[in-house]
Amino acid sequence: MGGRHAGDFYRGHGPLPQFLCGTLAGMSSIRTINVELGFRSYPIVIGAGLLGGAFDLRPYVIGSDCLIVSNETVAPLYLEKLKANLVGKSIAAIELPDGEAYKTTDTLHMLLDKLVDIGANRDTTVIALGGGVVGDIAGFAAASYMRGVGFVQVPTTLLAQVDSSVGGKTGVNHPRGKNLIGAFYQPGVVLIDTQTLATLPERELKAGLAEVIKYGAIADRGFFAWLEANIDALLAGDAAALAHAIQRSCELKAEIVAEDEREGARRALLNFGHTFGHAIEHCLGYGEWLHGEAVAAGMVMAAALSDIPGDDAARLAALLQKAGLPTTPPRIGASKMLDAMGMDKKVLHKQLRFVLLKALGEAFVTADYDVRKLQQVLEAAD
Ligand code: NAD
Ligand code: GLY
Repeated sequence: MGGRHAGDFYRGHGPLPQFLCGTLAGMSSIRTINVELGFRSYPIVIGAGLLGGAFDLRPYVIGSDCLIVSNETVAPLYLEKLKANLVGKSIAAIELPDGEAYKTTDTLHMLLDKLVDIGANRDTTVIALGGGVVGDIAGFAAASYMRGVGFVQVPTTLLAQVDSSVGGKTGVNHPRGKNLIGAFYQPGVVLIDTQTLATLPERELKAGLAEVIKYGAIADRGFFAWLEANIDALLAGDAAALAHAIQRSCELKAEIVAEDEREGARRALLNFGHTFGHAIEHCLGYGEWLHGEAVAAGMVMAAALSDIPGDDAARLAALLQKAGLPTTPPRIGASKMLDAMGMDKKVLHKQLRFVLLKALGEAFVTADYDVRKLQQVLEAAD
């Protein structure tokens, strides 16, 4: 990112001091995790009721102005609460149309126009209030407007709370492929109010669980076993179980992003199931299957392509099924799917690469896979 970097706005704010981590100033219901990226480090703050004032966002809005970016579904639920948290700031807001189908350059332009219309400067902070679609678009607008303004994530879906709000991937889809246009741009803080999950439709909760299960599958066998034991509580919306799942997922993601922010190596593991999943989303038309649903079927396909001992692949499929997620791809055609996979961002020297499992809890990236096995795996889409 050229010019003044958004990180500059957060110098002096950055991560929370160590003594505040884990619990925030003695408030045991608030958990914090730092994403350690030098002067661009930032806290993920997790708790119930944070939007309502249990966490003051204002120190992260560096100037006096902010633009809250939400959508037509989330704004009626949480915009006023967020505005009340920001009292004293000059607040503008925009509601984007809802849905993956609107994660486009057109919507991005609409947002950039709004920033121009309100006379936003480099000390304006863009605040994303919503799921991964709002967060990805708002983050890219923050990254590109005047080469970078302040950015805050307030994720309101489980998927956004455990994945998309953390790590700085921002962007929009292109008609030819998913998330093809974007930038790495870290927020100054991620504020996760777990109470927002109370209004989330069940199908969206399940889609978020796909990414939670992903963390266990790629990086933490013990967490995977915990998910097997607690899947019913998670599906029932049990607050303690959800808080633990969100915390552990964010810890794992923060650790991986701190090690490999720009996906030179280990971060690619977070794309387990995504090569197949993105192709499913693209071939079906964006929004037909939810991202988490496509990733769920994609993880089962990636596990089938892997050489995993014992019953680990069956355990993964069983857990996803128990979470109410698809474990086979839709009938979109093997060759169409293979074509779509050619646009995957992990393609290197024109060669497909996959994230495969050695075992539950241990993943690796490879271009060295069994081509006949891949053909068999893709035949499930015929
Ligand atoms: P989404 O943003 O479309 O949200 C899902 C639905 O839930 C929408 O209709 C939304 O309006 C609604 N909603 C959001 N919060 C709500 C609430 N609290 N109560 C009621 N309804 C609510 O989908 P998502 O699953 O959050 O995100 C998917 C997107 O995230 C995809 O575009 C995917 O590519 C992206 N993603 C990005 C990253 C990243 O690292 N940047 C990682 C994973 C996924
Ligand atoms: N969701 C994949 C990543 O953040 O790298």
